[in-house]
Amino acid sequence: MKQKVLFVCLGNICRSPSAEAVFNALIEKEGFSEKFDVDSAGISGWHQGEPADRRMQQHAQKRGYNLTSISRPVTAKDFDEFDYIIAMDQANLRDLKDRARKPEHLKKIFLMTDFLTNPTHSEVPDPYYGGNQGFELVLDLLEDSTQNFLRFIQQK
Ligand code: 4NP
Repeated sequence: MKQKVLFVCLGNICRSPSAEAVFNALIEKEGFSEKFDVDSAGISGWHQGEPADRRMQQHAQKRGYNLTSISRPVTAKDFDEFDYIIAMDQANLRDLKDRARKPEHLKKIFLMTDFLTNPTHSEVPDPYYGGNQGFELVLDLLEDSTQNFLRFIQQK
C-alpha cells in the first residue's frame, strides 16, 4: 500500500508546495515514487486555487524543482486519508493538533524540522514577508529534513 504524505504550511503557496516538490524529487531520485502519494495543503484557504508564490517558484527552479501544486486548505478528511501530516512551523503544528478529532490523527502529525540532521531550527520560517534569504533557507531546511524523514518512514 502507498504511504500518503501531506505537507502543511499556512498559505500552501511557499513552504508546503516546496516540501512536496523537494520530497517528490528525492523519492524519484531514489526510485521510490511508486510507493508514495504526496500532497500539500494550507491551514488557511486564503490562497485557494492559486499556484505557488512566484518568488518561491523562482528560487525552487534554480535548484531544479518545479512547483506545480495549486493551493488548497486542509480538510477534515485529510486526517483520515494521510499517513503522515507534516507541519512547517509551530503554529501549523498547533493548528493541526487542534483539528485532529481522534487519537490516531494526532499520531500522524509531525514537525518538519524534527527531521533536521542538526537541530539548528525549530521551524521552517515563513518566507512570505521577507527577502531572498528566507526562500533559500526554506529550501535548505527542506533538502536536509526530507532526507531524514524518508529514512524515518522506511524504518517503520
Ligand atoms: P506559506 O507562506 O505558509 O509558506 O505558504 C505564506 C503565504 C501567504 C501568507 C502567509 C504565509 N499570507 O499571509 O497570505
